[in-house]
Amino acid sequence: MKQHETDEPRQSRAASDVRDGWDVNETNRARAHDDRLCMMFDLSGHTALVTGAGKGMGVGMARGLVTQGAAVIVNDLDPALAEERVKELVDFGGSAVAAAFDVTDLAAVQEGVAMASELLGSRVDILVNNAGIPKSAVSVTPFLDIAREDWAPYIDLNLYGSLHCIKVMAPGMVEQGWGRIVQISSGAGRVGLSIGQALYGASKSGIEGFIRHLSQELGPHGVTANALALGLMENVEIRNRELLRPLVAAIPNRRLGSLADVGAAVAFLASPEAGHLNGQTINLNGGATTN
Ligand SMILES: NC(=O)c1ccc[n+]([C@@H]2O[C@H](COP(=O)([O-])OP(=O)(O)OC[C@H]3O[C@@H](n4cnc5c(N)ncnc54)[C@H](O)[C@@H]3O)[C@@H](O)[C@H]2O)c1
Repeated sequence: MKQHETDEPRQSRAASDVRDGWDVNETNRARAHDDRLCMMFDLSGHTALVTGAGKGMGVGMARGLVTQGAAVIVNDLDPALAEERVKELVDFGGSAVAAAFDVTDLAAVQEGVAMASELLGSRVDILVNNAGIPKSAVSVTPFLDIAREDWAPYIDLNLYGSLHCIKVMAPGMVEQGWGRIVQISSGAGRVGLSIGQALYGASKSGIEGFIRHLSQELGPHGVTANALALGLMENVEIRNRELLRPLVAAIPNRRLGSLADVGAAVAFLASPEAGHLNGQTINLNGGATTN
């Protein structure tokens, strides 16, 4: 199994970088821990589904799981993106298949997961509910300016989308007496922010609450359910350095979260070693909030 590598050489962490602002191309990669993931946990024999892994943070999660030996089903709404990611994972030496479906459609989840499991010849025992940014959503708008008919997308995706995947995959985990459910959440679900993300935050808070209850029901069957609340990550849509600088300066680690960061955290939560970690929400945010 190869290691995931960037084309760039490792860079040292300069003191001036820590004091100053942030530059996505130069500084963030220097500050992030090495992008190369190594074998930490043995997930061979396990099969994971990562939703919304065609681009963004899900790519890091899929890489992290494949690196630890899991077979991965790469889900996305966009079939071409899912296929591209699968090609990368297979080129890397992993076992992966694409499954394009909309997680907000229960029948599509049932069908897509059945087909992908058959292709891999194994049942999903690690579920990473990552898809969480709806295509059709009104973004960063104060709540009072959002029409009632525009409320649904965040709730549909972050609540119903995650519930559908759990409904389809958790019974198999319970039956075999082992499973891992990793719910991707956000700092916006944990603290109030006046940045026009009230509905997104509500949907993330809601699914975190659900995961806490689910952990109590599934724990006795060897299945854990935890949430990973991400802070500002390197694919954040604000590309303007002047807007980003104060946001990054407010993060104690003085950088954005990387694909390697989420890959390592998800791999741990999915591992046998994390078996006694259940019903928790863990912040992955460089210390931005500590609740
Ligand atoms: N990026 C950040 O800074 C950040 C911060 C906090 C939390 N998060 C969380 O991390 C997760 C990933 O975020 P991201 O920034 O990588 O997202 P992204 O938008 O970059 O990528 C997500 C992928 O999900 C897919 N998707 C959207 N709706 C879908 C659906 N209904 N069914 C299947 N696939 C669907 C999209 O096609 C896209 O390829 C989300 O849950 C998000 O809330 C991200």
